[in-house]
Amino acid sequence: MKVVIADKMDSQAEVILKKMGLEVDIRPANGEIELEQVISDADGLLIRSATTVTPELLDKASNLKAVGRAGIGVDNVDIKKATENKVLVMNTPLANAVSTAEHTIALLFAVSRQVAQANSSMHAGKWEKSIFKGTELFNKTLGMIGCGNIGQIVANRAQGIKMKVKVYDPFLTDEKAQQIDVEKVSLDELIKTADFITLHTPMTEQTRNIIDSKEFSQMKKGVYIVNAARGGLINEKALKVALDDNIVAGAALDVYEVEPVTSHILQNNSKVILTPHIAASTIEAQANVAIQIAEQMGDYLLNNKITNAINNK
Ligand code: MLT
Repeated sequence: MKVVIADKMDSQAEVILKKMGLEVDIRPANGEIELEQVISDADGLLIRSATTVTPELLDKASNLKAVGRAGIGVDNVDIKKATENKVLVMNTPLANAVSTAEHTIALLFAVSRQVAQANSSMHAGKWEKSIFKGTELFNKTLGMIGCGNIGQIVANRAQGIKMKVKVYDPFLTDEKAQQIDVEKVSLDELIKTADFITLHTPMTEQTRNIIDSKEFSQMKKGVYIVNAARGGLINEKALKVALDDNIVAGAALDVYEVEPVTSHILQNNSKVILTPHIAASTIEAQANVAIQIAEQMGDYLLNNKITNAINNK
């Protein structure tokens, strides 16, 4: 049986699959045409975020039994078509959660103290001590939209720095909220009362533009916003207006409506920190996702054992 690794992935994935007796074809994504040529006889396909698994690609992969996403977001896989074609889609929901949560915390610190801007200023040979006045996180209200695996780690770290954590998450039970000591609130209350807002929800038709002009208009003046979840959760044009109107004091983004970014309306905005979707780019997370997805793929192809399935094929 053959597994195609379509995106750049820690080499441990290949080692594990081969140890299990599977043939491995490593194909760094150079566009779908090349992938289409090797996919026709593949039993499994491993991806990260670079490859888009389109209906056309799935139709060319007549032998395909499973797609494994080394990571969390499966918005680059056509789940409906995969299900129709009886292709199992699985991900690794926990493997990069710590890294992603830590990047959110890093961005919270960075945006509240203009760390990136001060760094650029120093590297440009300037000493602009008086313009980089920040704000403390201590005692501030963190409003978190979404409190799943990643959100719960962010909440825990934020509590460690003594932020007050409010959460909007329709899926979070009262018991769990009590256990992790967060206050469950409506989206409306969160928007109106948070000093800092972070997002930790997948991108779906329900969550697209969950922060838009209306929400910005209701926020506290001087709010900070951090998104290391998915682009499209925040309407980027509305964010620009809110920054220009001084409603939002600072924003830090790791994810974008369109990726990869070549040009962006928030580039060169001095209130904004941009990172290139690197929240899960740590040595630990990349090893974890590769090991887990390879094991899951091997287990499924060889033993029909299903772990972390996204669909019911
Ligand atoms: C994920 O969905 O796992 C993260 O956003 C990182 C990635 O896209 O690989």
